[in-house]
Amino acid sequence: MTDRRLFLKASVLAPAALAAARAGATEPRGPVLTRPCVVSTWDFGVAANQAAWAVLSKGGRALDAVEAGARVPEADLKNHSVGRAGYPDRDGHVSLDACIMDEHGGCGAVAAIEHIAHPISVARRVMEKTPHVLLVGEGATQFAVEQGFPREELLTPESRAAWQDWLKTNRYQPVANSEVGTYGKTGPAPLGVPGGPGNHDTIGMLALDAAGNLSGACTTSGMAWKMRGRVGDSPIIGAGLYVDNAVGAATSTGVGEEVIRNVGSFLVVELMRQGRTPQDACREAVERILQRKPEARDLQVGFLALSKTGEAGAWSIQKGFTYALCDGVRQDRLLPGLSTY
Ligand code: GLY
Repeated sequence: MTDRRLFLKASVLAPAALAAARAGATEPRGPVLTRPCVVSTWDFGVAANQAAWAVLSKGGRALDAVEAGARVPEADLKNHSVGRAGYPDRDGHVSLDACIMDEHGGCGAVAAIEHIAHPISVARRVMEKTPHVLLVGEGATQFAVEQGFPREELLTPESRAAWQDWLKTNRYQPVANSEVGTYGKTGPAPLGVPGGPGNHDTIGMLALDAAGNLSGACTTSGMAWKMRGRVGDSPIIGAGLYVDNAVGAATSTGVGEEVIRNVGSFLVVELMRQGRTPQDACREAVERILQRKPEARDLQVGFLALSKTGEAGAWSIQKGFTYALCDGVRQDRLLPGLSTY
């Protein structure tokens, strides 16, 4: 039996056995960043981190940094998995999901919002201007317009052409659980397979500011060609993002349904509270997904975490997940996350 299988067995059988297995865990720890710092998912996190760093390096608040950073891929017309130019649902509607969380446990989110290019900023307004946490669909768009956000067409000619291409070959069947190796057929499903189209997905960003406060942001256009109304993990507090200013923060990317089923980001932060390193906590969250649903090994889910002390960590089901980090000594750094397979 492999070490991993032994570990899975131990974790099913008894928490004490799990703890013992963990005590012997030898996986390398993630990098320790200097304060202030920011980490974010995927290659496009490098550019996003620069916008966040512009805030952090001047002594700015982590919340302002993650909002500024998340807006970069939201505005990038070459990015078809976040914001404007995101690939649409199977009916041709671009619908976006985002959430944000601050150092006080405040949070705001929008889900299935349409015609608004910067859902992360609307999520912040939900947090700061309403008594609610999550606005969805038409109500979210209405709120955004009332707040002064322009109502726009987000479907670009390239995204429309890709959608029409998909319609021709896929018989209107959404593929929420894209298998590795099928992305080229099922759509751009940018889940981090090397060489896969786009090779990108949700941006999740976590920042620790000079004052020692944590915040996080997460934004996506979700699964390409999804069913109308489908919402992934990214706007769900505890699934796509969680911040506890006393402990650390975590965010996720990949097949959102699997993250929601396991309340992934909350789990990562709770494991860190129990003493796990960020990397080990991310690994355990991935293992939980695989315990419950072994066939999830054919999917991609990745977690990224940052502790209160600036230690980062990442783990994914499949190889190919990357994360970007930036602090006073390391700029533009892109690292591979470790993976179970
Ligand atoms: N993780 C993005 C989504 O599933 O929508």
